[in-house]
Amino acid sequence: MSLQLGRSSFGNISGKDNVYTRERANALLNEWVLNPKLKLHMVQVAHLMKNWAIEVERCNEAEVWKWEMAGLLHDADWDQWPELHCKKIIEHLEADNIDPTIIRAIASHGHVHFGVFPETNMDKMLYAFDELSGLIHAYSLMRPGAYEGMDIKGVKKRLKDKAFAANVSREDIEDASQRAGINLDILLGFIIKHQPQASL
Ligand SMILES: [Fe+2]
Repeated sequence: MSLQLGRSSFGNISGKDNVYTRERANALLNEWVLNPKLKLHMVQVAHLMKNWAIEVERCNEAEVWKWEMAGLLHDADWDQWPELHCKKIIEHLEADNIDPTIIRAIASHGHVHFGVFPETNMDKMLYAFDELSGLIHAYSLMRPGAYEGMDIKGVKKRLKDKAFAANVSREDIEDASQRAGINLDILLGFIIKHQPQASL
C-alpha cells in the first residue's frame, strides 16, 4: 500500500535543528510500531544511517542524530496505518515542527510510492539502506553464522535470485545506488559491517 504525497515541500524552516530526544523518539517508535520485526528493521536502518553520517559524511553529533532519527522513524506509521504510510508520520513530525531535513528524508524514501525524489545525501542514503538492509537481514537469517563471514559475493548471488526476499525491489536497489552515486559493492560492504543483528 502506498500513498502519493502530492507535494515536494516538507516541514518549516523555523524547525531547523529541532529534534526529538532519543527517549521521545524511542517512545514514539514503541507506541506506534507493535511488530517486533518492523521495529528491528527501523533500528537497523537507523544504525546504518548513524554510522554513515559519522564515517562517510563526517557529520557533527547533532547532525548524526538527525540521520539516525530519520532512519528510526521512517516506517513509524506502516504497522498500524499502512494506508496512511508515510503521510501520518510526516504530519506528526510537522506538527512538532521537527527539522525539515528529517521530514524530507522520510518523505522521499520510496519515490515510486510517495512521488518525492531523494535530493540530499540524507534522503539518498535512507532510500538506499531501506531495501538493502532488509535483503541482507533476510540473508543473515538463513546463514548459520548470520553476519559472520558474510561477503559481498554471497549477497549479490541472493540479489540475482528473484525468488529470494521477493518483496525486496531489485529495481529500487539499482535506482537507489545510482541516485546515491555509490557503487553497490560499497553499500553492501558497509551494511554487512555495520548492521546490528538484533535491537541494540
Ligand atoms: Fe523501511
